[in-house]
Amino acid sequence: MSDYSNLVNKIFCEDNLVTMSKMPDKFISGIITSPPYNIGTKRKDCYYNNGYQDKDNLSQEEYIQVRVNEFKEFERVLKDDGVICYNISYHNENPILPTLLISEIHNQTEFTVADVITWKKKSALPFQTSPTKLSRICELVYVIVKKDRLHDFRTNKIVSSINQKTKQKFYKNYTNLIEADNNDGIKSTLKASFSEDLVYKLFNIYFPQDSLIYDPFSGIGTTARACKKSSRQFIGSELEEEFWKQSLLLLNNHINQDTVIEAESSKS
Ligand SMILES: C[S@@+](CC[C@H](N)C(=O)[O-])C[C@H]1O[C@@H](n2cnc3c(N)ncnc32)[C@H](O)[C@@H]1O
Repeated sequence: MSDYSNLVNKIFCEDNLVTMSKMPDKFISGIITSPPYNIGTKRKDCYYNNGYQDKDNLSQEEYIQVRVNEFKEFERVLKDDGVICYNISYHNENPILPTLLISEIHNQTEFTVADVITWKKKSALPFQTSPTKLSRICELVYVIVKKDRLHDFRTNKIVSSINQKTKQKFYKNYTNLIEADNNDGIKSTLKASFSEDLVYKLFNIYFPQDSLIYDPFSGIGTTARACKKSSRQFIGSELEEEFWKQSLLLLNNHINQDTVIEAESSKS
């Protein structure tokens, strides 16, 4: 039998489709991620200042198809009862894009939306010069599962009581509002990281301790750090060498040297 343990607890500096091509079927328990939002390249804070501008400035149709193709590979590598937490924000010029994308994911893949979580941040991005736009203090996290597991996908919810007669289970109350830090205050040219706080709160709802979590857009490694600190296993993919290197340095503060050296040697 093949041993895929060499993929685990690593962040790969490569396209997520390349990383997933090395994984066997039904390998990962879940995905926690935030994809690029197709922000225009003329802005200084776009993700791809260092050479991937073409990938961050796609037409709407191309952008949706690239993301949908990733979901087609998620279908293969995710366990049948797995959960995808997909945090997506929008560009000022095209606020409908995430809605169109989610609709195409539903139409073109085995996946559908099980819940929509509102992530309320600690502070807002002000639009004080706009006569029309609101300050954004919330982002959405789409909870995506396989259509045929809509009612029995795996979670980490705790049973609070069981009716002895009917055997009906009652769970602790989990709401679709999460209040969590904006980010971890890490100095980086990546302006779109989320926070370990958010990731822990998603673990609490969906991902038991034995989970293997994949982040296909790992950025500066927030998901991996939260996994490492909570003894969950992780795999990450990050296209940009600068962010990938920073993610390894940050992980280095929390994991032993051997793991980081191994992770560095996995750059393709
Ligand atoms: C919104 S950021 C994610 C930030 C991450 N959640 C964090 O906290 O650091 C999206 C990241 O995806 C990376 N990316 C874009 N396309 C990719 C691809 N096809 N494969 C791997 N990484 C990709 C970008 O370089 C960027 O760092």
